[in-house]
Amino acid sequence: MGLKTLRDRNRKDTSFDLKAYVERRIAAVNEALDEFLPSVSAKPATIHKAMRYSLFAGGKRMRPLLCVAAAEACGGGMAACLPAACAVECVHTYSLIHDDLPAMDNDDFRRGKPTNHKVFGEGIAVLAGDALLTQAFEILASHEGSKRFAPQTLVLELARASGSLQLIAGQVADLEAEGKALSARSLRFIHERKTSALLCASVRLGGMSANCTPAQLAALTDFGFNVGLAFQVIDDILDVTQSSESLGKTAGKDVAARKATYPSVVGLEKSKKTARTLTEKAYAALEPFKGRSVALEALAHYLLERDR
Ligand code: IPE
Ligand code: IPE
Ligand code: MG
Ligand code: MG
Ligand code: MG
Repeated sequence: MGLKTLRDRNRKDTSFDLKAYVERRIAAVNEALDEFLPSVSAKPATIHKAMRYSLFAGGKRMRPLLCVAAAEACGGGMAACLPAACAVECVHTYSLIHDDLPAMDNDDFRRGKPTNHKVFGEGIAVLAGDALLTQAFEILASHEGSKRFAPQTLVLELARASGSLQLIAGQVADLEAEGKALSARSLRFIHERKTSALLCASVRLGGMSANCTPAQLAALTDFGFNVGLAFQVIDDILDVTQSSESLGKTAGKDVAARKATYPSVVGLEKSKKTARTLTEKAYAALEPFKGRSVALEALAHYLLERDR
């Protein structure tokens, strides 16, 4: 079944306005993040400036958006899942600050601005990453949980996705793969961990905030995993097909650094096909929601078509 057919079959409301949806939710997430974080003037000001510099640099906020959309698909509201939505964005931003360090990908631009270490120096950038990671768990600790999911279950969810068996495992394998000829299977191992794990956790945390049923959680996990994997395949594709201006980060860096990416391992056309197939799987996973997951579908579609 084609992508459009699958989407249409799931969808009741075809007039969904993604732009308006996203704007409202990003505004709420930004406001909550601003409240959760210490003010810029809290001492020492340098660290709070550095944390806020990267957090408010203009990221797409995909993880919080997926978290909120998942909660809504399960009948929940935005307020209950805001701590989870903010926490996943803090973990994500920390991972970007560290990913850009000279010791890792050595990147000078991120979210259209000089990277954290370029502005604040490497020492502060390491600490700003550490502080955002810690902040994420402080924020998540304010989550009340739901009937089926105790607050500690949510904390465990984020800890596992961010830890040495998932996000960190992927980043380690990514570094160790530089310059090596990798199998498609090993590449998938990296991408499932460095990127898909946190995206999947973002979706699951949204569901848990809304007291989702076990069947809903299974569907969200399937959706999140596939969208998450597609997300990194597309990130690899965009690195070769887009300009630095459009990406807000230096394009062509993966080839220069001899990174293991989908285009380098399976070729550009096969990579595009893989991204489509994964997105189709993500749509299919939403069938149990029977048209109540329009926002999740629209976000998955946007992610496939995105140019940044
Ligand atoms: C970039 O993530 C790093 C990856 C995990 C691929 P995003 O593309 O979500 O970056 P922002 O948050 O929009 O800057
Ligand atoms: C980043 O992957 C993954 C994490 C930060 C966990 P990339 O290194 O491909 O991300 P970009 O291309 O620098 O955004
Ligand atoms: Mg990297
Ligand atoms: Mg990188
Ligand atoms: Mg990349």
